[in-house]
Amino acid sequence: MIHPLVIGNWKLNGNLHFISTMVSILRQSIGSIQNCKVVIAPPMIYLGQVKQAIYNSAIELCAQNVDLHISGAFTGEVSSNMLKDIGAKYVIIGHSERRLWHAETDYVIARKFYILKKEGLIPVLCIGETELEHQEGRTKEACARQIDVILSLQGAEAFNGVVIAYEPIWAIGTGKSAHPDKVQEVHEFIRTYIAQKDAKKDSFVTIQYGGSVTSKNIMGLCAQPDIDGVLVGSACLNPESFIDIIRLAVKQKSSKMF
Ligand code: PGA
Repeated sequence: MIHPLVIGNWKLNGNLHFISTMVSILRQSIGSIQNCKVVIAPPMIYLGQVKQAIYNSAIELCAQNVDLHISGAFTGEVSSNMLKDIGAKYVIIGHSERRLWHAETDYVIARKFYILKKEGLIPVLCIGETELEHQEGRTKEACARQIDVILSLQGAEAFNGVVIAYEPIWAIGTGKSAHPDKVQEVHEFIRTYIAQKDAKKDSFVTIQYGGSVTSKNIMGLCAQPDIDGVLVGSACLNPESFIDIIRLAVKQKSSKMF
């Protein structure tokens, strides 16, 4: 049975009060849910508080960013070994908001990927096409381009154990989720694309979908064999809707024998 990976990306939201309310509701509600990996990605400044709040629960911690460097004169940055030190397990890289607002290139993202792997953290590599690429039918080309930089620098084997979040940019925060059949097609493409370049053919990549995921569309998404979980933005800020997403993802995946 597949255990879906559900990550809640708080983005630039939350405060100490939100953390205690959210985590206590999550702990009560998902204590009884098995067969699901639940991860939360708070803003950097709250990683320590969230780590304490999730102590002794099944919830895991994800950071929203990492610097390219391990230490030194890089004011304002946070390194991979600091994230590891504080207990993060996953780190989101390549999110379209960072590509857009912080001018992160595929090359910078590939270097972040490298640093995380080296430190033993799990990259959650976000890739996806723009609205124009979507309209022009260039989705797979856009995804391949974003994967290629890492493939050429580190090889396909580096993807083993990694999470890829396929997030069409036009679907993020818009309420327009991509159709599950289309997402399946892209996920299958991504999996095959990496596998073809993997000489050992034994890498396993978890592929999540992200972009306006809600409790209404989660069942359709999780019915697809190559959708291993979801990266949730807006809907994870409401504990009830995040819990519904988790429950329904587990229900759908446990009913499928892919
Ligand atoms: P959204 O965000 O669920 O609000 O669309 C998803 C994301 O940016 O990861």
